[in-house]
Amino acid sequence: MGAPHELLDLVIFGGNGYTGRLAVHQMAVVMSQHPGVRWGVAGRSRGKLEAVLREAKEKGVDTSDVAILLADVDDADSLSRLCRSCRLVVNCCGPYARYGEWVVAAAVAEGCHHVDVSAENHFTRLIESRYDAAARKAGVFVITSCGLSSVPVDVGVTYLEQNFQGTLSYVDSYLTTHPTAVSVLRGWRHGVIRYSSWESMIHGMAQKKDPEEDHTLPQKRR
Ligand SMILES: NC(=O)c1ccc[n+]([C@@H]2O[C@H](COP(=O)([O-])OP(=O)(O)OC[C@H]3O[C@@H](n4cnc5c(N)ncnc54)[C@H](OP(=O)(O)O)[C@@H]3O)[C@@H](O)[C@H]2O)c1
Repeated sequence: MGAPHELLDLVIFGGNGYTGRLAVHQMAVVMSQHPGVRWGVAGRSRGKLEAVLREAKEKGVDTSDVAILLADVDDADSLSRLCRSCRLVVNCCGPYARYGEWVVAAAVAEGCHHVDVSAENHFTRLIESRYDAAARKAGVFVITSCGLSSVPVDVGVTYLEQNFQGTLSYVDSYLTTHPTAVSVLRGWRHGVIRYSSWESMIHGMAQKKDPEEDHTLPQKRR
């Protein structure tokens, strides 16, 4: 990995996946208003990350200062280097039940804040049970569930609390997806949900017990 000499403010890990690419493009737009913030993209393929930055550039945002870092979930040292290189890692690499814990472990060990877009409740519970104390001690935030299926629901609950009288005790929320002309034109002919999201849902539905007892989750890496 070409570790930068200067500490980056944030890095988007998994920057070439479906979610990561959207995050990188949006971050490039936002950061064009904040030239003092140093950020980067990370993943296991430099070529794929360069392609994502090129796409953003073609849409009119300057990505020439964006750092590229190489890291692989299967290589603990690369995750440590990644988390030493930045103040915040935005982890878009999922399914989280499979890949997420090792990124959190590296972030907490290296004193780096961590945000992800998981919607896997069992993953969140596992991370809380294994890393809450260490994260507090290290003074780092580990914030899961910052994606589409979580943030609008939280905002909706707050809206209901603020706009209806009495105590809100229960909310049902639904997310439906439909094949549209746009999705068909973009080549999503075989479904309307990404495979990683589908896999994450299956992990989530399979998980009904204490995550520490769930053998479908990875064992803690020594
Ligand atoms: N909460 C929500 O609303 C919401 C919305 C969208 C997605 N998500 C979640 O976000 C996650 C990603 O979804 P997605 O559709 O973006 O998936 P995706 O397109 O398959 O992207 C996965 C990313 O992870 C990387 N990756 C896989 N294995 C790796 C490894 N060993 N080391 C380093 N990087 C690795 C991939 O890189 P390579 O190209 O090198 O394989 C790719 O960049 C899923 O868990 C999904 O459920 C949540």
